[in-house]
Amino acid sequence: MQDHLLSTQFTVFEGPEELSKPDKQLYLRAVEARKNAYAPYSAFLVGAAVLMDTNEVFVGNNQENAAYPSGICAERVAVWSAMSLLPDKKIRKIFISACSDRITVDKPVAPCGACRQAIAEYETLQKENIEVFFTGETGKIVKAHSIRDLLPWMFDNSMLL
Ligand code: THU
Repeated sequence: MQDHLLSTQFTVFEGPEELSKPDKQLYLRAVEARKNAYAPYSAFLVGAAVLMDTNEVFVGNNQENAAYPSGICAERVAVWSAMSLLPDKKIRKIFISACSDRITVDKPVAPCGACRQAIAEYETLQKENIEVFFTGETGKIVKAHSIRDLLPWMFDNSMLL
């Protein structure tokens, strides 16, 4: 028997002013996308902006439903929109920003497990890392160098072969 320790690496920015110019632009696209979220049930609005290797940006936001489980997160809307239009291209980065109509979201909002798995699918496929940035409405921004930093022991297609 042997114990193991998994470590994960991420960078913390104090706010958008610490981002590089291109990353700040992607941040602004996520904030903008958040405004069109359809979240009448949770009042929690999430925006995501995906940067492709073509430099195109695809955005998404959460879309809720009266039958609650039928809703979808911002990240999957953005990633699936990008991959449905550019199936042979690579995802470089995804920026996620969240706010609420009820409270001030002042800490970074990490993507949910299902969205991590969806992003991981494309990182595995393209064999190049996807940077994942996430933040709230105010406060710090976290950057993970790879989705693997957010999803240790992930399930991927190697398990199916
Ligand atoms: N949500 C996202 O869009 N992304 C996440 O990573 C976490 C949660 C949405 C789903 C739902 O519409 C609302 O936020 C509250 O969970």
